[in-house]
Amino acid sequence: MAETLLEMRGITKDFAGVRALNGINLTVRAGEVVGLCGENGAGKSTMMKVLSAVYPYGTWGGTIQWQGRELRAASIRETEAAGIVIIHQELMLVPQLSVAENIFLGREPRGFGGFIDFEAMYAKAAALMADLKMSHINVAQPVAHYSGGERQLIEIAKALSKNAKLLILDEPTSSLTRSETETLLGLVKGLKARGTACVYISHKLEEIEAIADSVTVIRDGAYVGHAAMADIKASDIIRMMIGREMTSLFPREAHPIGEVVFEARNVICLDPQNVNRRRVDDVSFQLRRGEILGIAGLVGAGRTELVSALFGCYRGPYTAEILLEGKPITVRTPKEAVRHGLCMVPEDRKAHGIVPDLAVGQNITLSTLDDYTSGGLIDENRELRDIDAAIAQMRIKTASPMLAIARLSGGNQQKAVISKMLAPKPRVLILDEPTRGVDVGAKYEIYKLMFDLVKQGMSIIMVSSEMPEVLGISDRVLVIGEGQLRGDFINDGLTQEQVLTAAITPLPHAA
Ligand SMILES: Nc1ncnc2c1ncn2[C@@H]1O[C@H](COP(=O)(O)OP(=O)(O)OP(=O)(O)O)[C@@H](O)[C@H]1O
Ligand SMILES: [Mg+2]
Repeated sequence: MAETLLEMRGITKDFAGVRALNGINLTVRAGEVVGLCGENGAGKSTMMKVLSAVYPYGTWGGTIQWQGRELRAASIRETEAAGIVIIHQELMLVPQLSVAENIFLGREPRGFGGFIDFEAMYAKAAALMADLKMSHINVAQPVAHYSGGERQLIEIAKALSKNAKLLILDEPTSSLTRSETETLLGLVKGLKARGTACVYISHKLEEIEAIADSVTVIRDGAYVGHAAMADIKASDIIRMMIGREMTSLFPREAHPIGEVVFEARNVICLDPQNVNRRRVDDVSFQLRRGEILGIAGLVGAGRTELVSALFGCYRGPYTAEILLEGKPITVRTPKEAVRHGLCMVPEDRKAHGIVPDLAVGQNITLSTLDDYTSGGLIDENRELRDIDAAIAQMRIKTASPMLAIARLSGGNQQKAVISKMLAPKPRVLILDEPTRGVDVGAKYEIYKLMFDLVKQGMSIIMVSSEMPEVLGISDRVLVIGEGQLRGDFINDGLTQEQVLTAAITPLPHAA
């Protein structure tokens, strides 16, 4: 058996008196990929922040042995020098700086006189991007120019340039397409062949199955167990994670579907960079009362653009005719949309969903604050009651409603964003990738909630890249391909194949 590279024992970590980690062990052997699994808020990211000295030695309990010696690092710089490199769940890139500057931030190659050698920096960055099959990225462009998935890969390129002995990947694929995910998994395998070990955190258990040699499971800050991947299945991991068996992943429930409540006509979105290109190409559809309408399609097909236009937040020129209960409405801004009873949980919660420094509770009531205000006074008691109810309804794991939302675990932030958008009691709720970064148990809760809402007469539009989710939850499925509406199916035993075939089959030209 390979030598032990890392041994973390009895790790404890408290936040303001609340115990987040309670005696967790983690062992990684040289060249091994260890999957770290646990529900939202179990303590995975915190454990990795302890390891990488985001939380320096002295602020946590237990011991870390690294290459046979005790590690007592005071900063992330020290752990990086030791060969431990972390890619955080929430991306840390500086949008205004170029791709190359981001990759080599603080380590810029310098030439004569100590000036940054841009030519060398660009060349090195371009070579890294080529390794990741991302040669189309212009490394001199600001990061802001690129999509979530591309940014994730840029972050990975940055980590690779640091010659890690142990690479920590915290939910690395939550914004990657299938092919980007494959590139990444291939890369981790390549690194492993060269002797680099990896701790891989993901809620997508098929990735863990594909890549991990062994799995460590934690629950509620406590150590549950460790097993070789060869000895266990995904269903075993789930049972260890949530402490019970899951009989079904999709709690589909019968519910009545009524008349048409919402209609979008001729939605056209132009590419902000190239107005000759249509990101959404004349899409029209209807939504009925109590209906869950899934929007499927390949990543980049225009689904997010379509729903952004409906919610008044598309970032380029667009036209759309929107009817609510048969009456045309104008939606130029999200605020207007909310006023009409149309709410959206956006795909990119960090950019659009939350105000990171505000408390969890304030985030939840952000769009309904007016309801609590009269004569310039805020009815704080009523607001607090509603916040508590929302936190309980979504089972958001937070030490207190006053905690800054950025301090919640990734999946719990997502749940809080959903709460925020339910607060105005919308008639139509748009969810763009609602279960991204959410654990299996919480996914189930979110689906159950969706069924509760439609039973009360709400209508839901759900954009999702997870095909089992679309097929498992939707009453009807729209398929978008290259900006066009290529399919509109009642989901009565609809198959993945039917949806994918529609997604890639262009419409015949209209005469
Ligand atoms: N800075 C902080 N202050 C207060 N509480 C915190 C802080 N960071 C984390 N916590 C709490 O510690 C617990 C563990 O969080 P952590 O982010 O490690 O979970 P996780 O397993 O990574 O979950 P996810 O799958 O949702 O990313 C959570 O209850 C979280 O709210
Ligand atoms: Mg996390």
